[in-house]
Amino acid sequence: MIFSESAANLRTSEIRDLMSLAGRDDIISFAGGMPDNNLFPINDINDIYNNFTTKEKQIAMQYGPTPGLPSLIESLGQYLKKKGLPVESNKILITTGSLQAINIFSKIFIDPNSPILVENPCFIGAISAFKSYQANIKSIELTKDGINIENLENFLTSSDKKPRFFYFTPNFHNPAGVLYSIDTKKKLIQLFSGQGIPIIEDDVYSDLFFYDEDASHLTPLKSINPQDIDVCYTGSFSKILGPGLRLGWMLVSPTIYEKCELVKQSFDACSPSFTQLIADKFLRTGKVYAYTKAVKEEYKERCLLMSKLLNEQLPDSIHFHTPRGGFYFWLSLPESINATDILKKAIKKGALFVSGKTFDPDGKKDNHIRLSFCNTSKEQIMKGIPKIIESIKELV
Ligand SMILES: Cc1ncc(COP(=O)(O)O)c(C=O)c1O
Repeated sequence: MIFSESAANLRTSEIRDLMSLAGRDDIISFAGGMPDNNLFPINDINDIYNNFTTKEKQIAMQYGPTPGLPSLIESLGQYLKKKGLPVESNKILITTGSLQAINIFSKIFIDPNSPILVENPCFIGAISAFKSYQANIKSIELTKDGINIENLENFLTSSDKKPRFFYFTPNFHNPAGVLYSIDTKKKLIQLFSGQGIPIIEDDVYSDLFFYDEDASHLTPLKSINPQDIDVCYTGSFSKILGPGLRLGWMLVSPTIYEKCELVKQSFDACSPSFTQLIADKFLRTGKVYAYTKAVKEEYKERCLLMSKLLNEQLPDSIHFHTPRGGFYFWLSLPESINATDILKKAIKKGALFVSGKTFDPDGKKDNHIRLSFCNTSKEQIMKGIPKIIESIKELV
């Protein structure tokens, strides 16, 4: 048997291997980037399903159009317009999770060995997708305000080969928790203007902001709508309803849309009609707003509790910023410390997190720890965070 080159190069990620531990009863897991089962809007979903007409149930069980159910495209369009997104001049494609949108973008832009540009650290799902298309991944480090603009400028002026695209997550970055400043976004626009390099804007966390005063910082690049940059925007129902629906979307120019729709046809023909109908009703009834408001309050409390414990007990040599939304803390350890060694100790004590090298496109830089606060109760945070702090203290 001969595997393709791209399959032969695929490696199981540490995050996936460790997720198998997350289900163990004696482990408190701060590893997974998923919502808490206890927070899903089960009653709303029951109501929605119970009120389906027979015709809707038939549609739910049937294949749908490749771009998505027209009713969802319409309701989602209204939802996205409220974020100032240019829905009229662009096209929406419903995808099977935003990870599928990232895979579709990879398919239309990457040839083997094509250079692409990402942030370091970077979402592991995107790294895996880019690697599966054999991209030559270049990365530039993040600062607390977004990508390091000086290094980005140097890269763009000195690099002999143009990257096929730049992939970034401006709002409550996974794993770094960073919220891009308005200034960094403006500089990004200046640097990419007229360069012919599309930007993939991954915006799956922007609805999970904890402070109303941050609302203006959350404006997507796509909403600023720079005329001479192709911004390929993607978002998801995974963080505002449930990842089990496997529903995301892209908002792209008609030219890019045309290619993406063809690729989606070959990937899975259409996303699940069943969950599209549910998501459509969730948007149309406005339940999405009450739900995100409620989960944000809970996540904020968990985040502040975790911040308090970390601030009180971590050694001074460990640095972090308390996130203002999203799911993640990102702890910076001294360069000489290996987070995977800390992880082994933490597992013995009964706590789990993800070590930094998972999010380094080169799989090397390991002096960071990602802690999720979304999927553990306050009681579990009180119990589990001290175990991680103890493990850190044994090595730092
Ligand atoms: C930054 C980012 N993008 C995309 C995704 C994929 O989300 P989904 O495919 O469930 O929509 C995730 C999931 O954790 C994420 O953190």
